[in-house]
Amino acid sequence: MPILRGKHIVLGVCGSIAAYKVAQLARNLTLAGAVVDVILTEAAERFVGAATFQALTGRPVLTDMWALPEDNVVGHVALGMHADLIVIAPATAHTLARLAAGLADDLLTTTVLASTAPILCAPAMNVQMYAAAATQANIATLRQRGIIVLEPEIGKMAEPMEGKGRLPEPPLLEGEIRALLGQQSGSLRGRRVVVTAGGTREAIDPIRYLGNRSSGQMGYALAEAARDAGAHVTLISTPVALPAPPV
Ligand SMILES: Cc1cc2nc3c(=O)[nH]c(=O)nc-3n(C[C@H](O)[C@H](O)[C@H](O)COP(=O)(O)O)c2cc1C
Repeated sequence: MPILRGKHIVLGVCGSIAAYKVAQLARNLTLAGAVVDVILTEAAERFVGAATFQALTGRPVLTDMWALPEDNVVGHVALGMHADLIVIAPATAHTLARLAAGLADDLLTTTVLASTAPILCAPAMNVQMYAAAATQANIATLRQRGIIVLEPEIGKMAEPMEGKGRLPEPPLLEGEIRALLGQQSGSLRGRRVVVTAGGTREAIDPIRYLGNRSSGQMGYALAEAARDAGAHVTLISTPVALPAPPV
């Protein structure tokens, strides 16, 4: 059973320039069979509109804690109660601080407080904002409470600056989501799996070797399947599909 099929994922999007990347994540999760309910913070709406997420997920996008739903279900608690997972990406410094303080001042923070679902945060922000003592203390607090806070990537930021603070790319975020869901309900949860992939090379002499045509695809697919089933996977790979050098 594919791990994402039928899973209820609340995707909280905050006011970061990286919000555009999460549209792709919402699409990929939906295509894989997940039911994705997007909550946009007020600041997030300045970066990506609700219509984008609504079209990509096929679900109404929620932004306003005070908007009463037609079925009279109390919106600010209902979403979190039915969620298999809450993903907050990009998680801003501001929302990490609100979560650490236990604030409930908008739909996203009330949903988090009212839920017992696992929570995954993917911070994205300016290098100094991420390194700030307050942000680091907030992240430590959240981790202590069992919230998974991913490490941002190192690289070029939107402003002319390089460093740690980039949102991981959508495929990596999806991998983390699959692993987390697998660890809750997968048939291999609690197991450790080692997969070796790619063609081996046996040296004949310092220049020549005996090899085979293995592409590594089978090993990579097995590693992903084991991860989705909840296993802790170690993938050992030979060099595969190297990009052609510029000659
Ligand atoms: C152009 C622009 C880009 C921003 N990018 C980020 C960001 O990547 N990360 C962050 O933590 N804050 C960023 N901010 C600041 C947040 O939008 C601001 O702190 C806001 O209050 C966050 O609200 P929220 O956490 O409720 O979404 C940015 C602000 C602007 C104007």
